[in-house]
Amino acid sequence: MIQPCRLSVLICVCDVILALLLGVIFCLPFALATSQKNSAGKDAQSLQAFRAVASVLTSPRCLNCHVPGDGPLQGDDNHPHAMNVKRGIDGKGSAALRCRACHQTENTNILHGPPGAADWQLPPSDTPMAWKGLSTGEICRNLKDPAKNGNRSLQDLIPHMDTSLVRWAWNPGPGRTLPPLSHDEFVDKLKEWIETGAACPE
Ligand code: HEC
Ligand code: HEC
Repeated sequence: MIQPCRLSVLICVCDVILALLLGVIFCLPFALATSQKNSAGKDAQSLQAFRAVASVLTSPRCLNCHVPGDGPLQGDDNHPHAMNVKRGIDGKGSAALRCRACHQTENTNILHGPPGAADWQLPPSDTPMAWKGLSTGEICRNLKDPAKNGNRSLQDLIPHMDTSLVRWAWNPGPGRTLPPLSHDEFVDKLKEWIETGAACPE
């Protein structure tokens, strides 16, 4: 049975306060450690999700348009586009050789025929989002930077993945390889990365 406080009410109150204080002092480190562990777990999940996202961003279909130079690339080895095609002022070709002269809104269903999708064009030259040769960390930081991603928030990235040019990578026409994840898996990983804090590798 618990002994009632005999000396005085004051001592009794002091005991309670002391007990509470000790409890807090002992428990705090454990609480902190647990919350740190949780955030480390979340970071690891975010990093893993981003690696999956990056595996798609750096696949050939995406890289052939997301180019650092002034002309598109072709094939799984990202070689320069035939006929010295250039991006032009608007990313839709030079005045003499427009993309749409060859690229329609649908693929040509013959091997090495021009692929097609609505609005076929290169990304703007000041924000080309050229991911080839960058580390996964650099790709990640570029993707998060509004100055480099076309002035978009992280949430804006999600609907973009449903646009015709991104979707085309999963329906690229005969003879062209697909990105390593399905479109659904890719969008799920992108959302997971954002929801877990959009962590970037070193
Ligand atoms: C035919 C050329 C083409 C292909 C192929 C292409 N893109 Fe793009 N991409 C563009 C253009 C053009 C823009 C700029 C669009 C804009 O600013 O509205 C763009 C912009 C982007 C952006 C930045 C916009 C944003 O919301 O951050 C991302 C990310 C992106 N593309 C991802 C991809 C991925 C992933 C693939 C492959 C699965 C891909 N793109 C394939 C042309 C292409
Ligand atoms: C004279 C016709 C012609 C013009 C103009 C042209 N293309 Fe192409 N393009 C092709 C053909 C044909 C292919 C397919 C080559 C193959 O599969 O071997 C192709 C392939 C591509 C590919 C590669 C697809 C892949 O992933 O392998 C991209 C990207 C591309 N073109 C972008 C453009 C852009 C952007 C423009 C305008 C700036 C443009 N092209 C202008 C004919 C053209």
